[in-house]
Amino acid sequence: MIDKINTHIAEVKAFNAESKKEVEAFRIKYLGKKGILNDFFASFKEVPNDQKKAFGQAVNALKNTAETKVAELKETLEGKQEEKGIYGDLSKPGEPIEIGARHPISIVKNQIIEIFSNIGFNVSEGPEMEDDWHNFTALNLPEYHPARDMQDTFFIQTDPDILLRTHTSSVQVRYMENNKPPIRTISPGRVFRNEAISSRSHCIFHQVEGLYIDKDVSFADLKQTLLYFTKQLFGKSKIRLRPSYFPFTEPSAEVDIYWGLETETDYRITKGTGWLEIMGCGMVDPNVLKNCDIDPTEYSGFAFGMGIERIAMLLHQIGDIRMFYENDLRFLEQFKSSF
Ligand code: PHE
Repeated sequence: MIDKINTHIAEVKAFNAESKKEVEAFRIKYLGKKGILNDFFASFKEVPNDQKKAFGQAVNALKNTAETKVAELKETLEGKQEEKGIYGDLSKPGEPIEIGARHPISIVKNQIIEIFSNIGFNVSEGPEMEDDWHNFTALNLPEYHPARDMQDTFFIQTDPDILLRTHTSSVQVRYMENNKPPIRTISPGRVFRNEAISSRSHCIFHQVEGLYIDKDVSFADLKQTLLYFTKQLFGKSKIRLRPSYFPFTEPSAEVDIYWGLETETDYRITKGTGWLEIMGCGMVDPNVLKNCDIDPTEYSGFAFGMGIERIAMLLHQIGDIRMFYENDLRFLEQFKSSF
């Protein structure tokens, strides 16, 4: 019996393996529940008393040798796997690549640009840090004009003439200074107002403003352009223009779209009226044209402006403007689009 054990010890010592599978088979053969070692342990009671000690020692030696062998082989095989190089196992399936998505503000901005570029508007941009002339004075808002308070302004402290633009109308002034009519341009961009942050307003947001100047442009042209826009973007074809006031347009109006009163949400967001305000607009004030060296007796035009966040909130039923700036992936990942 002891000889038999010794042969096993020699066999165990000589064993070698190329794969983890072979090592596992080997472990089961010797150390498994129905393995060779358990057989020896089971036959212990049949061994004559005077041989029990030697038998026990031999079986223990076999057990230790087998255990050490298994541990050794496992270690060398794992080491070999690491040596395969920095790319690891090239036959493994690849990790999935997460595709990014555009920010919802960019998506809606691009949708708006697309709609207006289809009817001949180009895109103009300007600086976020503006001077008083382009943001206020040229827009018929001279110093001390009370309407300056309509938009709470961030001034650059060292120079009261420099401020963060409160609307992208400033870009339209720059555009008129540098281009002769006919003009058809939209100005998307980031604007800043010193307002308390809440679910409905933020101190930084985005706008798209539009400007159309040519001979004989009338209020009817403005209304038709806005109707086309709301049909394209919202699929809604009923709008109304409510008289309003902006210093740079005369007459001025607030644009509402008829959203409908079909669901409970419709009731809530339209406060039971069915109507939603989406932008401001009007006929460009002759003083603004003069300020930009355009003759108001020859040319007329219209302008409009909207907040992109507000439009995006309506389109996607988003209840809180702050969602746009928190970069929560669970929110952002819901907007995958070709725009
Ligand atoms: N500039 C206005 C605002 O920011 C919007 C507007 C643009 C209104 C053009 C009329 C005409 O609120």
